[in-house]
Amino acid sequence: QEQAADKTVDIGVSLEKLQSLADAAHQKFKDDTDGKNADYIPELAKIPSELFGVCIMTVNGDVITVGDVDYSFAIESVSKPFTLSMLLRDDGYEAVLEKIGVEPTGLPFNSVAAVELHKSAVNPLVNAGAMASVSMVDADSPKARFEKILSYFEEFADDDLTVIDSIYESEAATNWHNKGIAWLLDSYGKLYADPDEVCDVYTKQCSIGVTARQLATMGATLANGGQNPKSGKRLLPTDQVPKLLAIMLSCGFYDGSGQWACEAGLPSKTGVGGGIVSVVPGRFAIVGFSPPLDEHGNSVRAQNAIKYIAEELELSLF
Ligand code: DON
Repeated sequence: QEQAADKTVDIGVSLEKLQSLADAAHQKFKDDTDGKNADYIPELAKIPSELFGVCIMTVNGDVITVGDVDYSFAIESVSKPFTLSMLLRDDGYEAVLEKIGVEPTGLPFNSVAAVELHKSAVNPLVNAGAMASVSMVDADSPKARFEKILSYFEEFADDDLTVIDSIYESEAATNWHNKGIAWLLDSYGKLYADPDEVCDVYTKQCSIGVTARQLATMGATLANGGQNPKSGKRLLPTDQVPKLLAIMLSCGFYDGSGQWACEAGLPSKTGVGGGIVSVVPGRFAIVGFSPPLDEHGNSVRAQNAIKYIAEELELSLF
């Protein structure tokens, strides 16, 4: 295990400035009532829509918070890059390229058409590819597979995490579409374990609760080249980090990825629980959390807050 870096990295902006921008973003967008909670997972519709938090964690482990940063929400699709991270660590990029793919679909996150067209999962950040990722996790049983994923996420968050049972039960009772995708992938030989079991582990993975603060630590680990800034543990080899970030940039917002790359210019991942994590390599991660979503399934307030901070600090990689 590596030690946390004892040197403070220059992140190019003061913590005071970051705090004032986070505060301004929160103030600016907290009363924005655009979008609505996901309701195809019935339990998500019940989460208070006014919840809104912004958290930034730097590669030095400094934390900036405003609003509801300690509310535990379902990680949903923000889980996908972290399972992918495990595959990049254990199997490497070539295996991901061959068995899943790394192309954006240009289609919604749960598109069956994309799977049919490509006869593969297309990329690890849509539902099909995330289930293919789960199926590639090396484990003897579904239980072991889930526990391996959960404990890896806990290393990223440097904290204990648990499944939100009400969300898991709600999604497990209604996830016929994902089961269909899993079986379709299996029919193309592109799912690497039992489809129903994989879909269930994937559903559980999506139901893991995280706070904006915990998710910011997960993102900051990616900003820090794969080493957790709090624990000092290396979770992903440095040379695999650019691959993960490139996939997040091109696919993290699904059919909104091109627009997000133009407007924020940061590798990011969204989830229908209302969370978004954006990575500013070598500097920090920004997390926004608020349940109401736009038509692509991405949090409206979280997008606006991250975009505002990114524009003010000219964080776009381009
Ligand atoms: O599989 C699903 O539909 C959900 N568990 C996750 C989808 C999701 O978060 C899409 N992201 N914006």
